[in-house]
Amino acid sequence: MKEVVVSGIRSTGNLHLGNYYGALSKFVKMQEDYDCLFFIADLHALTTHPDPRILHSNVQDILAEYLASGIDPEKATIFVQSDVPEVSELYLLLNMHVGIGELMRTASFKDKARKQLGIKTGNEKDDDEDIERQIIGTNSNKRVNAGLLTYPTLMAVDILIQKAQKVPVGKDQEQHLELTRRFARRFNSFYGVDLFPEPTNFNFGDHAVKVPGLDGSGKMGKSEGNCIYLVDDEKTLRKKVMRAVTDQGPTEPNQPISQPVENLLTLMELTSTADVVEHYRKAYADCSIRYGDMKKQLAEDILKITTPIRERYLEIRNNDVYISKVVKEGAERARERAAKTLHEVREIMGIRKFY
Ligand code: TRP
Repeated sequence: MKEVVVSGIRSTGNLHLGNYYGALSKFVKMQEDYDCLFFIADLHALTTHPDPRILHSNVQDILAEYLASGIDPEKATIFVQSDVPEVSELYLLLNMHVGIGELMRTASFKDKARKQLGIKTGNEKDDDEDIERQIIGTNSNKRVNAGLLTYPTLMAVDILIQKAQKVPVGKDQEQHLELTRRFARRFNSFYGVDLFPEPTNFNFGDHAVKVPGLDGSGKMGKSEGNCIYLVDDEKTLRKKVMRAVTDQGPTEPNQPISQPVENLLTLMELTSTADVVEHYRKAYADCSIRYGDMKKQLAEDILKITTPIRERYLEIRNNDVYISKVVKEGAERARERAAKTLHEVREIMGIRKFY
């Protein structure tokens, strides 16, 4: 039997090159050898209150991007989280075994709570006390929604309801995966059963790819405004790359490469051939580098990757009938296992039907 793999992406806007190299391209490889379930986490998206008028079209966008990137519904199960109501029920049941404290200590919760409360990031200990006071203080009129607090429970359910062994996620999700293992262990030992396997992160043996943004600083991220989107048209994409941050240019031979330029070289390593990268590294070392040329080349090479994806995306995005068929079949498959696990959990917890 193939090992079960589960992963999801929150539906909060278009996917970028970081999502592609960090997640999608791996999913495409994994679907060959594993029993994969990939889904759009629309319930998770609700924790940050997206505009209801665009939530559904966001889900469609990401579905089309999944399919355009090469995830094949014949090989993998593709579905929408909210199409599997068993997830919501197990979320309620599992929450009975989850501590408020462990949820409040989660880094992602503290981060988002801080933002919702308008606490400026500063000293971490003071921030923690501030969060607690503002959330549970009697004269607090601010509110952090409970869905945000129980985000890790919902994520654990996505994984455990399918009894997944492998979960390909980035570093920012490691803590959630750790909690998932803990919840699985706790449930198994509380009821003296061996129901849930403990899932581990999936790595392709290589170091995790970190895709940098175009602003010369950290990694590519939706909220950083430094992204190349898979569906950017040619003109937009070229413009973004040509405007990417560099440095003043090397002034003496063999000086260390500055962060912004290293970032562009990293993007090149992902999208160009090895000799191209080598050429520009040498050009930096002997001070002959011309950033205009380098960026033109980089834009060209990125377009080679994104253009076919974009073309397929446009085609699929306009084919509602096809998208509906894919998610309907996906939901059926996902629900089959989910219902089985939910039934087992209800039995174990002593919830039985009279009729
Ligand atoms: N929390 C994940 C993220 O923000 C998305 C997610 C939800 C997920 N449920 C999951 C990832 C289950 C893997 C498995 O990226």
